[in-house]
Amino acid sequence: MTIQIKPLTGSVGAAITGVNLNDPINDATFEVLHQAFLEHGMLVFRGQFLQPAAQVAFARLWGTPVQGNPLLKGLAEFPELFQVTKIPKETASTEAWHSDSIYTAVPPKISILSAVTIPVGGDTMWCNQYLSYERLSPTLKRLIEGLRATFSGGRLARMTGSDKVPTAVHPIVRTHPETGRKALYVGHPDTALCIEGMTEAESRPLLDFLYEHSTTPDNVYRHMWQEGDVVMWDNRNTMHYAVHDYGNAERVLNRVTLEGDVPR
Ligand SMILES: [Fe+2]
Repeated sequence: MTIQIKPLTGSVGAAITGVNLNDPINDATFEVLHQAFLEHGMLVFRGQFLQPAAQVAFARLWGTPVQGNPLLKGLAEFPELFQVTKIPKETASTEAWHSDSIYTAVPPKISILSAVTIPVGGDTMWCNQYLSYERLSPTLKRLIEGLRATFSGGRLARMTGSDKVPTAVHPIVRTHPETGRKALYVGHPDTALCIEGMTEAESRPLLDFLYEHSTTPDNVYRHMWQEGDVVMWDNRNTMHYAVHDYGNAERVLNRVTLEGDVPR
């Protein structure tokens, strides 16, 4: 089999064919996937029906799986693997553009999902945060250089009914530790609360602009899931949005995330 890499849009995502992720991945194949991942920000592998043991083994090629999650149910035999199941639309914290766990001090760098049960609908969208940064004017780039914002897990706390709301402070422009490229690092207005050293009235319009600017249709790929799909993405230079249009239908995906670095 020859690996083929086909960009999915002009901005983000690539489809990979010619690789079976249930088999061990050799170094040469990993290097091809790694380069494609750094270039495209998210990769789609159709028809994998990835088994939990193989998903954990594949994830370990990319880093250290995060163990333990207060919200998601882990599989007994695989403490690194968590099931994402249906959640009520009213409280779905994932139905907003976000980078996973941005409200923690050291957010995960990569997320890998394997689709087990897929309803009609329930698409996920991704956007390219390198482009979001690069498309800013030189003047605005200079203005936001070095700024940091407080990020809140309030949406998640609402979803889980927790009264503990985690927060973290991160730069709103981060440099990808592997590529050296700058990416905009922002989130939904409930998540990106305030820029350090500014009043809320000063920072709100700027954060709102950067959020809206990141997610224009020319910067987005929308994935229509099929059972057996494996999708992996880079939380350091993309955001994603889980569309909730499937009512009460069953939806199950197996997720592994990989430990990241402190955003800089
Ligand atoms: Fe997410």
